[in-house]
Amino acid sequence: MKVDVVLGLQWGDEGKGKIVDFLSPKYDVVARFQGGPNAGHSLHFEGKSYVLHSIPSGIFHSDKANIIGNGVVLDPITFRSEIVALLNEYPYIKNNLYISRKTHLILPTHRVLDAASEASKGKTKIGSTLKGIGPTYMDKTGRNGLRVGDTLTKQFKDKYHSLVKKHKRLISNYDFDYDIAEKEKEWFEAVEFMHQFQIVDSEFLINKYISDKKLILAEGAQGTLLDIDFGTYPYVTSSSTVSAGACIGLGIAPNKLGDIYGIFKSYTTRVGSGPFPTELFDEDGTKLQNLGNEIGATTGRARRCGWLDLVALKYTVLINGITKLILTKADVLTGFDTIKLAVAYKINGEETTEFPYDIEQDIEPIYKEFPSWKFDKDIKSYEKMPLEFKNYVRFIEDFVGAPVNIISVGPDRSETIFRS
Ligand code: GDP
Ligand code: IMO
Ligand code: MG
Repeated sequence: MKVDVVLGLQWGDEGKGKIVDFLSPKYDVVARFQGGPNAGHSLHFEGKSYVLHSIPSGIFHSDKANIIGNGVVLDPITFRSEIVALLNEYPYIKNNLYISRKTHLILPTHRVLDAASEASKGKTKIGSTLKGIGPTYMDKTGRNGLRVGDTLTKQFKDKYHSLVKKHKRLISNYDFDYDIAEKEKEWFEAVEFMHQFQIVDSEFLINKYISDKKLILAEGAQGTLLDIDFGTYPYVTSSSTVSAGACIGLGIAPNKLGDIYGIFKSYTTRVGSGPFPTELFDEDGTKLQNLGNEIGATTGRARRCGWLDLVALKYTVLINGITKLILTKADVLTGFDTIKLAVAYKINGEETTEFPYDIEQDIEPIYKEFPSWKFDKDIKSYEKMPLEFKNYVRFIEDFVGAPVNIISVGPDRSETIFRS
């Protein structure tokens, strides 16, 4: 059996949580492969709303195994508060949630390092969520990190303190005040709390599921334009958000991958700093923000908004080998008469459809206009959707070279349309 992947094709917040939850009934296992509590995945169903940061979005289906993969970075404090908020209503999660022994841990001092580094950058700051992501992945690749498996060994406290000592030396290079005493206490309690969950060699578990012909869905966080290699560097996150990241972040061989679902919104948003060629600073931008309710699920920051960028989308479809596209927030554009799609960039007087290395230079997007559409939110089939919408979908498919398979027309699980 092949492992399918769901990931974001823009700068995050494309609706991954909603879609993974929607697709979960088709699968036996849902596994997060990278990122950490910088993610905020929102789910709405049966009148209830949740935001998940570290827990996979298949958790609301009691018969599914959910795995936090080795590629994830886990903050025990955030993990505990997420679990505590769910445990009463969903007590089964103690039995169906697995954590990889190789998952790296975010320490309180990683958060301090993140904050100190951002403060020192002034205007060039990344706009990090300040969850300690960058410093934790730096310790992982620098071979200094602390993993979930370490917390079960006798050397755990020694390893912790020797890493914190290193961190304190690094922090002293910044002019930054901090006090981690309280947080440290909370962190150790949260590590104890984490031990009631199943800590496993998840690469063996997942490969056993594969050989038992179970269906597996790998859930990405962030989006391809935030990928450490292919995103708008340095305004990116610190992990591999692309489809290949699912192999590394779960221990799955590339030939085991099946469908690669790429999610994109009908427009574009970005939180944090960094270039954004189609960003709107006019009424249309404000309208997208209001109609799309574009407020960050993790930090509460307003998301920057702009038109859909097909130059960027074609690039992210290519990098991931997308087999199926998922279009979200199709309902938001019903508030407009005319909408725009960027179909080329003009750079130094020359037009290109290739996403450039230097995305910070002066880029003028070339737009194609489309009439918007009106549809009933209760619409249940693609066939019944208006012609204007179908023409827009066909144009996108032809441009990026992948078919749109699912369309989301509202935040609720039920507001989703499969295109057969
Ligand atoms: P994720 O990080 O990719 O899981 O996305 P977020 O949850 O951070 O942000 C997506 C936001 O859009 C959430 O508030 C969702 O509830 C909401 N959403 C998802 N799909 C749709 C849709 O089709 N229409 C509308 N209006 N909202 C949606
Ligand atoms: P989900 O999974 C949107 C952005 C931050 C910042 C940059 C680096 O909900 O789509 P980091 O904290 O990783 O050091 O921040 O990446 N960012 C996200 N933007 N959605 C996310 O996750 C994000 N995770 C990180 O705003 O610009
Ligand atoms: Mg999000």
